[in-house]
Amino acid sequence: MTHNGQGRAQWSSRLLFVLVASGSAVGLGNIWKFPYMAGSGGGGAFVLVYLLCVLFIGLPIFVAELYIGQQSQANPVKAFEIMHKPKTPWRFIGLLGVLSAYLILSFYSVVGGWVLDFSYQALTNQFGSLTQESIQNILTALFADPGRQIFWQFIFLGISVYVVAQGVVKGIERASKVLMPVLGFLLFFLFIRALFLPGAKDAVVFLFVPDFSLLTPKIVLEAVGQAFFTLSLGIGAMMIYGSYLNKSENLLKVSFLVSLLDTGIALVAGFVVFSIVFTFKFQPEAGPALMFQTLPMIFSKMPASYFVAVAFFLLVAFAALTSAFSLLEIIISWKTEQFNISRKKAAVIAGIFLFGLGLLTAMSTNILSQTTIFGLTFFGLFDKLTTSVFMPLGSILFAVFYGWILGPKAVKATVDQNKGTKYFFIVFLWLVRIVAPGAVGIMMIKGLFY
Ligand code: PFF
Repeated sequence: MTHNGQGRAQWSSRLLFVLVASGSAVGLGNIWKFPYMAGSGGGGAFVLVYLLCVLFIGLPIFVAELYIGQQSQANPVKAFEIMHKPKTPWRFIGLLGVLSAYLILSFYSVVGGWVLDFSYQALTNQFGSLTQESIQNILTALFADPGRQIFWQFIFLGISVYVVAQGVVKGIERASKVLMPVLGFLLFFLFIRALFLPGAKDAVVFLFVPDFSLLTPKIVLEAVGQAFFTLSLGIGAMMIYGSYLNKSENLLKVSFLVSLLDTGIALVAGFVVFSIVFTFKFQPEAGPALMFQTLPMIFSKMPASYFVAVAFFLLVAFAALTSAFSLLEIIISWKTEQFNISRKKAAVIAGIFLFGLGLLTAMSTNILSQTTIFGLTFFGLFDKLTTSVFMPLGSILFAVFYGWILGPKAVKATVDQNKGTKYFFIVFLWLVRIVAPGAVGIMMIKGLFY
């Protein structure tokens, strides 16, 4: 295993870092959430706002997070104490991150469980001769059955806990090294298949021709939230991965690469899903059920459908797992370094807690579907609270800490790693100091209160 000389793990190479960080970024957010949010948000206009957010807001914050992690070489709570001073109030950003990781992973593991359930159904050849109605029925049956959801959630969490407990290099890196290239290959294959569907052209128009009359402050906030969610920003995931990175690694370059990969994959996944939507005349506004309703359709109508179905759901499962590793790593790094307990113990305790919290999501589509807070089920509440509040808020604070507290010296150091010009430095500095946090702040206020 590679170490940084003080017994702390380090990624084996830059390429492997890009792979694990993309593993965190590419997940249910790209393949499940992005298509349904774009579908409910009116398509092109949502996508455009999302792309602008990734470029002008997401990217600077990505760099800020990585920098704090890389220079402190510590978990998201301790990092602020190292970079600022002991007991600094800034460490609460780290704690907010740990809380968010718990909340996200609690519902993420349930949706990951749905994917495992569908993978199992694909493996046992249940998608052979489907109609639109029978697909609805499969999903409705799964939603109505808390036991089945809890079973798969348990398996999903179990795999995540097992891998992350093995360590950063031996667990996360080793698993991602296999899973990510397979994912890329499978997605490419589906992309080629979707290109030949009659709905492909409509999918491109839907995703890339914006109708601005559909944009409301709420949808803009959702697009910002989605940009953070998909890049794993605002809660310390990239920070903790950055803390296992060599102190001289060029952060601008790796952040750009990971963001590019992540965005590309979301767009390809969106294209695949909407090609099916328009070919079989589904509703783009189907919400969280969209991916699960549409995809089995392509499989039931194509040659070698069995293999394609298995491939697709395994792809989504792999993508979800590599993201879950990073969510779990936020919690585990904090527990092991803060309370001095072993990695395995921390992983198991976190797993038990997450399983308990996840029950609230697994029951949100059945027993607890009528129990709402602010009009949302627990599932909806956890999702909204993290995506539209905690992640944007955490991101603003990361940018302020990097741009103002660590200040121009830190930003200059980052730009110098990349041999950037003076002009680039000034643009980047003000992007981090004002543009990114300011824009997110305005959108949060508008989106939450209008
Ligand atoms: N980026 C992941 C996805 O798109 O599915 C989700 C995620 C992972 C969010 C890690 C936050 C995080 F810290």
